[in-house]
Amino acid sequence: MKVEITSIEVSKCYPLRHEMLRRGKPLETCYFDGDNSEGTFHLGAIVDKEIIGIISVYEKDLTQFKNSKGAQFRGIAVASKHQRKGVASKLINCAEKETKKRMNPKYIWLNGRISANNLYLGIGFDLIGDPFEINTIGIHQRFIKMISYDN
Ligand SMILES: CC(C)(COP(=O)(O)OP(=O)(O)OC[C@H]1O[C@@H](n2cnc3c(N)ncnc32)[C@H](O)[C@@H]1OP(=O)(O)O)[C@@H](O)C(=O)NCCC(=O)NCCS
Repeated sequence: MKVEITSIEVSKCYPLRHEMLRRGKPLETCYFDGDNSEGTFHLGAIVDKEIIGIISVYEKDLTQFKNSKGAQFRGIAVASKHQRKGVASKLINCAEKETKKRMNPKYIWLNGRISANNLYLGIGFDLIGDPFEINTIGIHQRFIKMISYDN
């Protein structure tokens, strides 16, 4: 399977976000804060001209790392029939490279569903803090990947 990773408009993320991350909920729940902010970008994994995977990247710091620039990964999803083929790992690795180029952050973080823990641990993210509930979506864990320890 030939998978191409490319920059996409946020509107192209909504169908997969809805199907995989907000199924049964109003479409508006797929509109995330900062989706259209300057600096935000969205990547799609394309197979045969179809978007089968998505990730979005936001310029957003963690409150516990004040004065240190962070980037948040969010809205990571792969269509059911293409899962367990390395698509999410490829998307996240490409997003990390692109984030370093565009934002030069000190760290990248994300709130992951606990069902996806092995995905993030497998590509070099570390767990921070305890599991927590995100209303109506489920239990999450926060992950971080340090890029630089310089001030
Ligand atoms: C989570 C998700 C993005 C993973 O996408 P994917 O393309 O299948 O992930 P990869 O193929 O890159 O998986 C890499 C590794 O992550 C782990 N992993 C991925 N999906 C997993 C699952 N359902 N259960 C357990 N481990 C899983 C495995 O260790 C896997 O390696 P392996 O296949 O060699 O065992 C996809 O299942 C999905 O869209 N799920 C629904 C939406 C969602 O939960 N998104 C994440 C929000 S935090």
